[in-house]
Amino acid sequence: MATDIVILAAGKGTRMKSELPKVLHCLAGRPLLQHVVDAARTVDDANILVVTGHGAEQVQAVISSGSLRCIEQTEQLGTAHAVLQASPLLTSNATTLILYGDVPLISPETISGMLNNVSDESIALLTVQLADPTGYGRIVRDQQGEVAAIVEQKDASAEQLKITEVNTGVLALPSECLQAWLPQIGNNNAQGEYYLTDIISIARNAGYLIKTIQPVAVEEVEGVNNRLQLNNLERYYQLQQAKRLMSEGVTLADAARTDVRGNLKTGSDNFIDINCIFDGDVVLGNNISIGPNCLISNSLIGDGVEIKANSVIEDCQIGNNAIIGPFARLRPGTELAAGVKVGNFVETKKIKVGKGSKINHLSYVGDAELGENVNVGAGTITCNYDGVNKHKTTIGDNAFIGSNTSLVAPIDVGKNATVGAGSTINKNVPEGELGLTRAGQKNISGWKRPSKKD
Ligand code: UD1
Ligand code: CA
Repeated sequence: MATDIVILAAGKGTRMKSELPKVLHCLAGRPLLQHVVDAARTVDDANILVVTGHGAEQVQAVISSGSLRCIEQTEQLGTAHAVLQASPLLTSNATTLILYGDVPLISPETISGMLNNVSDESIALLTVQLADPTGYGRIVRDQQGEVAAIVEQKDASAEQLKITEVNTGVLALPSECLQAWLPQIGNNNAQGEYYLTDIISIARNAGYLIKTIQPVAVEEVEGVNNRLQLNNLERYYQLQQAKRLMSEGVTLADAARTDVRGNLKTGSDNFIDINCIFDGDVVLGNNISIGPNCLISNSLIGDGVEIKANSVIEDCQIGNNAIIGPFARLRPGTELAAGVKVGNFVETKKIKVGKGSKINHLSYVGDAELGENVNVGAGTITCNYDGVNKHKTTIGDNAFIGSNTSLVAPIDVGKNATVGAGSTINKNVPEGELGLTRAGQKNISGWKRPSKKD
């Protein structure tokens, strides 16, 4: 059956105290609304409709990629009024699910549970039991225990306020019913708003049964209204990620100090020390060790790799058994073959390095291709930029680059060639030869160091 998913995202989020629309604040590196859209996309062929309002253009620009449509609600007159904006775009013979752009952690399981309980005779409502239900709409049940209505906090009687089963706002029903019932909702209530919750009593009167579903975890239905709530959900999310990693065979030095902001795929027998951040799409092989304070984004890390403390790795491919860091910075386009070593205070960018090569200390190597078993001495710099254009450096197999060398690109150092320490190389060094630019050494005998004046 076709599915329409309406995501309400028009609210301002005053309590965030921010210029940024609330739904664009990030949880685990992605906007809140993006989490909801991603969950909605787990439903096959869903027709996703996002109701925007505050910061509509900004919101649309951030999330409009892929198949979804944004509809602007120019005035926020209540949740029913918000859904009404999307109503003309609903599909016939479909089920509509209502989600919220500021309730980011709704799970695919809960979504399918909701959709499976909608029929010609029933609609589905997601509820939770809360020890402190203050602020939420209360679920009012009749003598048979069936849901009869939802009463908002501000409209509730003293008796109703004692009810601890609350409305999460998530609702699923036949799209055509929604279209027929929305215009029947008025705004004669304490807030003068068009309440979507009034749908429940209308559905009851039309003879529909209200089936209630509970989420697996209460955090799935928690909304973000302020930065404390945002942080609480971030920590919950990160702990879930940590538990997943551990279940997949990763040892974490501290489950509370590992952050996953994207999709981290991992093999087994990996060790991750404290304060590591994984951003975007990262794939880890097996038997990897990652030291403390590393940032790894959008990279592929091979089996047996050792990444030592304080290394930053972005858009890279690291071959098996490579050893990186400590304090290495591997920038986009770095491709290291098996067994390569990149040591402390080395920066790399857009380079391919063959098996077993070493760049162990204090170097910048960019726009370069290095063969196998190359040794790049400490302090080597590829001068890849002439102020206007970038140029390439190539270094053949088994070449040896002495320390403190400047390689002025475009330049080619042949196989088995050697560059003497301290050289500025601006002509190619042929295969097997020694390239050297160095002023001759002079020793002055009998030279006296200056002494202190009286
Ligand atoms: C709503 C429910 C309440 C439920 C609670 C759960 C109604 C009337 N009440 O109350 O039963 O317990 O959620 O959190 O539905 N929005 C729009 N346009 C509008 C109004 C709201 O897009 O015109 C969006 C808001 O940005 C927000 C969401 O809808 O994301 C909920 O609106 P809000 O006014 O916060 O509803 P609550 O008072 O929390
Ligand atoms: Ca409200």
